[in-house]
Amino acid sequence: MSPSVKSFAVARVKPLLSDTAWAWLRDPLGRRGAPPPSSPAARLSDMDLTQLAQHFKTDKWGSHRYTPHYERHFAPWRDEAINVLEIGIGGYAREGRGGKSLRMWKHFFRHAQIVGLDIQDKSFVDAPRIRTYQGSQTDPEVLQRIIDETGELTIVIDDGSHRSDHIRDTFAYLFPRLAHGGIYAIEDTQTSYWPERGGSEDLDDPTTTMALVKSLVDGLHHEEFVDESYEPTYTDLHVVAVHCYHNLVIIEKGDNREGTRRRAILKSRYADG
Ligand SMILES: C[S@@+](CC[C@H](N)C(=O)[O-])C[C@H]1O[C@@H](n2cnc3c(N)ncnc32)[C@H](O)[C@@H]1O
Repeated sequence: MSPSVKSFAVARVKPLLSDTAWAWLRDPLGRRGAPPPSSPAARLSDMDLTQLAQHFKTDKWGSHRYTPHYERHFAPWRDEAINVLEIGIGGYAREGRGGKSLRMWKHFFRHAQIVGLDIQDKSFVDAPRIRTYQGSQTDPEVLQRIIDETGELTIVIDDGSHRSDHIRDTFAYLFPRLAHGGIYAIEDTQTSYWPERGGSEDLDDPTTTMALVKSLVDGLHHEEFVDESYEPTYTDLHVVAVHCYHNLVIIEKGDNREGTRRRAILKSRYADG
């Protein structure tokens, strides 16, 4: 078949097929022997995160462009039996509204327990592998109850009030309790720059979400600080990466002690020490 006939055929056939079936047809070697997905559940678990976001109509793709970033960071856990907490279930006080992202996460993480926390009662979202809690993201009691009843959290996504003071308090409580190797995401960080939403126009204001994020980036390099009397904080020792995207920050937890060559390089500074 000539290239032009082939591309004509491709253009005519693709609209007749679902994206998943189309991907399967285009990649038969990658899935040799596997039948095309048949049940709706099989089709969902086969979708990538952006397709799931579109299916469940969450704004994590569309108004925002978060899902490709999440896909990259969360891919290693797709088949792991981890615990995922999303703060902010959605729908605010509107009855029967919310839960879109919790459903998306359930189908992305095929074996995870998905937990949601909202200031409003969202218990109508409860389902197999989805559990909701009502309470404020700044209430340590409800945060601790979630951990006690769920187990250690590997992923936390803060999509709650989006107020800097709340985001900072929640992070201060949950990050030290996050699993080693876990991920902490903060959405809609644009509010950090908006006084009307608890942020500040002053880029050096120390109380905002982005001030916290910037301090984490500094702390990540604490081993390079020349002040030898500096005492590293918990986050200095446990934040191993800070990924900043447009309105989304993804923080990785691990052991941040790689060592430094600063004494060997800055010999004259440390000559007497
Ligand atoms: C942006 S929506 C969450 C959307 C949801 N994560 C999604 O992607 O489908 C924010 C939610 O946070 C809740 N919320 C507001 N303040 C909160 C607080 N202090 N603690 C917990 N949830 C809060 C609201 O009721 C609302 O449902």
